[in-house]
Amino acid sequence: MAACIASCTPRLGQADDEQVIAAMTLEEKVSLLVGTCKDWNLVPEAAPATRHREPVPEGYWDTYQGNTAAMKGKVSGAAGVSYAIPRLGIPGIVLADGPVGLRIDSVCTAFPSTVALAATRDTDLVYRVGQAIGEEMNYYGVDILLAPGINIMRNPLCGRNYEYMSSEPDIAGAMASAYVRGVQSQGVGACIKHFAANNQETYRNGIDVRVSDTVLRTRYLSAFEQIVKQAQPWTVMSAYNKINGVYASENTYLLTDILRGEWGFEGFVMTDWWAEEDPVRMQLAGNDMLMPGTQEQIDTLIAAVKDGRLDERVLDRNLMNVLRIIRRTPAFRNKGKSNPENKNLPDLLENHAALAREAAAKGMVLLRNEQALPLASYDKSVALLGKASYDTYVGGTGSGRVTRPYSVMLSDALAEAGYILDTMAQERYTDHIHLSRSVQPQESAWFMPYVSELTWTKQELQQMAQNNDLCILTIQRMAGEGGDRHLTEGDYYLTSVEKQLIRDASEAFHRLNKPMILILNMGSAVEITDIVSYPDAILMAWLPGQEAGHAILDVLTGQVAPQGKLPMPFYVRYEDVPSANNFPSSDGDPNKVCYREGLTKPARTLFDVGYGLTY
Ligand code: BGC
Repeated sequence: MAACIASCTPRLGQADDEQVIAAMTLEEKVSLLVGTCKDWNLVPEAAPATRHREPVPEGYWDTYQGNTAAMKGKVSGAAGVSYAIPRLGIPGIVLADGPVGLRIDSVCTAFPSTVALAATRDTDLVYRVGQAIGEEMNYYGVDILLAPGINIMRNPLCGRNYEYMSSEPDIAGAMASAYVRGVQSQGVGACIKHFAANNQETYRNGIDVRVSDTVLRTRYLSAFEQIVKQAQPWTVMSAYNKINGVYASENTYLLTDILRGEWGFEGFVMTDWWAEEDPVRMQLAGNDMLMPGTQEQIDTLIAAVKDGRLDERVLDRNLMNVLRIIRRTPAFRNKGKSNPENKNLPDLLENHAALAREAAAKGMVLLRNEQALPLASYDKSVALLGKASYDTYVGGTGSGRVTRPYSVMLSDALAEAGYILDTMAQERYTDHIHLSRSVQPQESAWFMPYVSELTWTKQELQQMAQNNDLCILTIQRMAGEGGDRHLTEGDYYLTSVEKQLIRDASEAFHRLNKPMILILNMGSAVEITDIVSYPDAILMAWLPGQEAGHAILDVLTGQVAPQGKLPMPFYVRYEDVPSANNFPSSDGDPNKVCYREGLTKPARTLFDVGYGLTY
């Protein structure tokens, strides 16, 4: 009898999925549809502005009934794990963030921001980046990458633009399809996010996006549609926000009618993290997995089935979607063993660093060049200005931050290549950065220390112009998940110190017929209209990943000819942004944003989508 129970129990992959589901208890079914987060130390840190509710009462998590076994031996720093049912041969699968590289606690390659990947317009290159991330997933035992983010860059102030790809659906669609195909070529899954109309961080978990069906489909769903049809991502992450009054995670029209019915999506849908809407409505709408999962959700779903509010067949339908994907994962295929091919980590990271450098350089966009670039071979001494030249940002903040092995600053790359840096500038910046950082908390996923820009007198700049062959000045902006950028000096606008420095340095160097080059180190546009004609060259370097300094220098020297094309515009004035009057809310109502921009093209751009020079 005991032998029969063991041998008669259907196991995933051996029996039909229907039979496996039929053998599950209600508790098992519900648990598999809700992620596991039992112990506090396994709970991924919730991003700012994700939770609706007050912090859970003390002791709440102690009563959590998820299966810790599923978490045992799993990947530290992963965003979530699904529930394992060993008796039915169902493993827990590991989900970890991207998109600019794999985000876990161990060291992974930090690739350039996805907007920079999109700027390359090189689908083969982006495929190779996806492939490399997939290799690292296999190495560490991650089954699904929570990337790429493909929300349309509706406004330059959106905090997560660096993680997205374009303001244009066709660019985002083509580039993200290549990314997804690359990741999935390694036998692991991708997750396109955040479905849909999550174009801002301000009140992202409750904002009601009011948008017409035509605009929704042509501008905000189109990239998702292209990727689903071209690349069949294993999973889709629903967005936090509402669309026309209904949460995306509870939206049957979006998740079932359009995604599965019209586009033929075959994977499973998961919520964004801690999206704590009504679990019953989410299951009904086709939101298969609730992540990272709470006991409250489990209890609610079980009670709803028991009291007849939720037909158990809805759970079965959703479980079919989940099991179909679990069967493809390394966790299932390799019986939980990671690193199946036993690849050597140092080799892997070294190869990927070269790829990160290539991608970063190819994604940079040359916005202006008055015969200043590429640098002449006799240009050897550099007045390197701007704190960003010594403290180059390699990525943005939030769940897209990668535990990178190192970051190459522009100053390091120049020195390494034999350039002589102006000592006065180098010393002042190095001391200033060191001092500013030492009195602030350490840099982390959710915090970037602030370092102010230094001022230089005209006299000092003239002296530097005398002593050096050229001037390179970098300005930077940080942005990321959990907040939007501001329409203030130091954020969207340049500060008066920055403007003055650009003007004065340009004048001092021009007087001696020496070039002044401006580098932009940021994930989205700033307003540069007033200073655009001062520098001899302007290079949009984005947030270029761990190889930042090397990649910038590759372009400056002409080692790599610039090929990047803007995936989103630089506007003349903020007022020219089509969504300017409807971002991040409309009609004085903080809960609502109307997408009134319709289908019109931006009125006035300084540099439009597709712009980019070369040499
Ligand atoms: C973000 C997602 C991310 C998830 C897991 C959320 O806060 O919005 O993009 O994948 O956390 O870390």
